[in-house]
Amino acid sequence: MTLVEAVSLRRVLDSRGNPTVEADVLTEAGGFGRAAAPSGASTGEYEAVERPPSEAIAAARQHAVPRLVGEVHAGDQREVDAALHAADGTDDFSEIGANSAVAISMAAAKAGADTIGLPLFQHLGGAFRGARASFPVPLGNVVGGGEHAAESTAIQEFLAAPVGAPSVTEAVFANAEVHATVADVLDERGLSAAKGDEGAWAPPVDDETAFEIVDEATDRVADARGFEIGFGLDVAAAELYDADDGVYRAGDTERTPEEQRDWIAGLADEYDLVYVEDPLDENDFEGFAALTEQVGDTLVCGDDLFVTNVDRLERGIETGAGDSILVKPNQIGTLTDAFDAVERAGRAGMAAVVSHRSGETEDTTIAHLAVATDAPFVKTGTVGGERTAKLNELIRIAEDAV
Ligand code: PGA
Ligand code: ZN
Repeated sequence: MTLVEAVSLRRVLDSRGNPTVEADVLTEAGGFGRAAAPSGASTGEYEAVERPPSEAIAAARQHAVPRLVGEVHAGDQREVDAALHAADGTDDFSEIGANSAVAISMAAAKAGADTIGLPLFQHLGGAFRGARASFPVPLGNVVGGGEHAAESTAIQEFLAAPVGAPSVTEAVFANAEVHATVADVLDERGLSAAKGDEGAWAPPVDDETAFEIVDEATDRVADARGFEIGFGLDVAAAELYDADDGVYRAGDTERTPEEQRDWIAGLADEYDLVYVEDPLDENDFEGFAALTEQVGDTLVCGDDLFVTNVDRLERGIETGAGDSILVKPNQIGTLTDAFDAVERAGRAGMAAVVSHRSGETEDTTIAHLAVATDAPFVKTGTVGGERTAKLNELIRIAEDAV
């Protein structure tokens, strides 16, 4: 294995036009890796701390780079990530910033892969089987509001789920067609729509109308393509919950936690939802547990609830809160921590869904992570360059494996 020879950090643009951290890692054997940190808008209360990029870069140069250069092997991810933790010294990366940490962690993985000439997904431990029947099904955000768009739905994301697609390529194109078909349905209803942060349509409609529109669009595309396309939600309910009053607010509607649960369970049944993420507040483990029992087949996923954190996941496993965890490396700061969450979830029989953030770059690491961990679903959005970068990488990875 080869030692890290150099680490450089810079500020680059993310998809919202904000600065973010990009890292380059060079190994002594000449391997190179580059990665950039994404950034959330509806961030969980318990996420690792993202610092302003210039501060995160300065702190990482001071504390992390000296512990990496000439000290750790780029191909040994645990060693790299342990050095990042040691350099930071806190339990939430508030010293060097989770944005610097995750950029370096991912860049080191790519440098390690490059050094030995392997694709990243293979280097990350994915025994990709060319003939396997399954691949990560991309969940395509086609309509959304919440913190990602003003004047639209209270539910943050309506996600096309092409569960019957015969290949990842077919699934990716199906989601793009659902996105285009939503525009047709909006047009037929005399509605025009802007796009939110992830490129999903943000029409000026309430949640109920959005359900009708997405149901119609997924049905049309499923009929045309001849395979099943369901849909799911990211409610991002922590953003709707008023802890002082103990109610969820969506437009003019107020719901108690119990009413919120029954509402979601009713929707899961009515629309045969494939997937429901963060249907309840990020502190409501008991509510998640009750809902998981209530909905049967619908995957109940914790994003803000678990924040890719093994300790919070452990609490979820004990209480039966959800049957799926969302995995976002920047929520926890390193690939090793993300892998540990995937591994713990797997042992508990829970699905691990790999995800992008609403603020993204052209970085494709999560496509490799999803394949390497055999994720049932991957959230990457549907259109827009920072989203298609990952989707096109998934297509290439599948081709590689044939
Ligand atoms: P965020 O939203 O990246 O803005 O936090 C994405 C999500 O909630 O899944
Ligand atoms: Zn979410």
